[in-house]
This record gives sequence, C-alpha cells and structure tokens, in this order.
Amino acid sequence: MKRAILGAAALVAGINGVSAATATRADFGTANGAKVEAVTLTNGAGMSARIMTLGAVLQSVVVPDKAGKKEDVVLGYDTAQAYLDRPNYFGASVGRYANRIAKAKFSLDGKTYTLAANDGPNSLHGGKLGFDKRMWKIDSVGNGSVTMSYVSADGEEGFPGELKVSVTYTLSDQNELKLEYRATTSKPTVLNLTNHSYFNLSGNDARDVMGDLVTLHAEKFTPVDATLIPTGERRAVAGTPFDFRTPHKVGERIRDGRDQQIRYGRGYDHNFIVDGSGLRSAAVVSDPVSGRTLEVNITAPGIQFYTGNFLDGTFFGKGARAYRQGDAICLEPGVFPDSPNHPDFPTARLNPGQNYVNTIVYKFSAR
Ligand code: GLA
Repeated sequence: MKRAILGAAALVAGINGVSAATATRADFGTANGAKVEAVTLTNGAGMSARIMTLGAVLQSVVVPDKAGKKEDVVLGYDTAQAYLDRPNYFGASVGRYANRIAKAKFSLDGKTYTLAANDGPNSLHGGKLGFDKRMWKIDSVGNGSVTMSYVSADGEEGFPGELKVSVTYTLSDQNELKLEYRATTSKPTVLNLTNHSYFNLSGNDARDVMGDLVTLHAEKFTPVDATLIPTGERRAVAGTPFDFRTPHKVGERIRDGRDQQIRYGRGYDHNFIVDGSGLRSAAVVSDPVSGRTLEVNITAPGIQFYTGNFLDGTFFGKGARAYRQGDAICLEPGVFPDSPNHPDFPTARLNPGQNYVNTIVYKFSAR
C-alpha cells in the first residue's frame, strides 16, 4: 500500500494561519477493475475527511461530538465498488448538471441538446454516467488539501464543449472543510457542479434526522411540479412548511400533506433561494443529542434541501447499515434546477475564457 504523509511544516504553517492539517494518500481498492485512491485530510482538532478518486466523493467526515467522541457524519459505502453497484450520489461531486433538466432537453444559442432521461422524463445529476461515476485524477496533495480533476469530452452525456473540471478540498484547523469546484469550457455550455453529501450528525447513522434543527437563510424557494421541475415561481416561505428562517425540527412539518409541495417532494426536496450574494451562510443544521452543528457557507444562488426521501432501505451502506427515508440531510448548493430552461433564473451558462467557481464551506462545531 502506497502511503505518503505530508504536513511536516505543520507547526509553522499553523502559526501563519495556513492549514496545519495533514494529507495521507492511500489505495482505496478498485471499482469495475480500475484502481481507486483516497486522500485523508486530518487536522489537530479531531476532524478528518476522506476523498476518493471515484466521483471525487467525500467518502467520510469524522467530527467530534460535544463529549469529544469522533464519529462519521456522512452516509456512504465502505468500498469504492459499492458506489457503482448501488449509486445514490453519496458524497459525490455531481455534474455536469446537478439536479434536474426538464424533459432531458435544453437549447443554447438556437440549438437543442438532448440528454439521457434518467429520472422519469427528466435528466438528473448529469445523466447515466455523470461525474459521480467517473474516475478523477489527483493533481496535487498539500497540507490539509487535495485537488482532483476530470476532463469531460465535448458531447459527453449530450452536453456541448470539452469541460475541464477540478475540485479542491481543504481542511482547516477550525474544522472547516472547504470545497472549490472550478471549470473551463471549449464551447458555450451549461453546468452546475455541486457536492451531494448526505449528512447525519448523530454519528454513524445512529438516529434519523427528524429531530435535527435546521435553519435556512432563504425568504423564498422554487416550487416544483409532480416531477420535481421548478414551475418558475419564486414563492415566499412565510406561512409554509418551508419557512426555516428560524430553526425548526426537520420532522415538525415534513408530514404536512395539506401542502402540495410536501406531497410532490415526499418531504423536502426543494431549491431554496439563498438570501444575499457572495460567500455567505446558507444553512445551519444541529443535532441536539450529539451537540454537533454544521454550518454551510456558499457562493451559489440556491441550495437544494433534500431529506433522503428516496432512501428505501435497499441502500445498505457503511457497516451494512440499511439507509431509510429521513436518514440524512443533503444541502446541495448551485444554480436552480432546470435553469437552462428558465431564462429568468440565475444563469448556468459558461463561455470559453470564463472561469466557473462554486465554493462550499462545511463548518463543524459541537456544544
Ligand atoms: C437530489 C434530488 C433528489 C434525489 C437525490 C438523489 O437531491 O433533488 O430528488 O434525486 O438527489 O437520490
């Protein structure tokens, strides 16, 4: 097993305010016969994060609870192969287009592009072989950080332009894990890169997330039709089960069948329009039992709040634990779903010469 430990200059780096965390590179088995590697970032505050080359997946995130007990707070699998055998976007770097494109079609500069319909009539998370199922290359490994990249050929999964994408994961000593998705294209195209981690702050999926307190800094959300495509409306959350401007338990209103949006989503599976712009707090989740809190800071205009409604017990994950509905919270920052078909939504377009950046910071604490 190949191992390399970096971070010898840890102390000096820490004093200078740079991450003093280490990065350890190791083999992580195979997936359909191809070698998979993983990089584990570890800091001095008890946190570690493992990222594997298959799908640039965030495979584990270990953080202490209020008593200092270190446990994994993301759903996933123990082996790389399971991510291909039972795909569910656990921790994945999703692309080219995270979330849905209606009727698996969009047009750009007068030309219509047809994608694979892999979610009823719609395209979901980049199509049949999205970025979550591709092998990414490790570009660099440094103190507390790793950069992985993938080159998507012109026409791959029906999208125009050769797209060069990368993601840099950096762990700080303040238990912040920063993800920076970048891309450039050879032709005008559309994209929406995000991370699809399923958080369960109880640790090792001990309990479901119904008792978690969620705050979403969003005055409005984008209601959907029965196939989870935005109607185009921007609806105020006030007076609805979607009002998380102050903390509410996930389970408090998730069964409110009077609300058609809750019925369509089988719970929460909706894009919230995050107040403000630039890098800002979009969401806070806390588990009152373990005391763990996660704050998600983002640069994107929206965030998909999804409560694992499609987990049906057939996805048995780490430690052969069967994952069931309501076992996790996903917070997927990006442009809005189906933006290529909604000219009045923030644009998903990228032109040659432009640099796409989507920054996500997961900040953990315990009290
Ligand atoms: C996103 C979607 C959900 C579901 C999951 C993956 O969160 O909005 O509807 O498809 O991904 O299962």
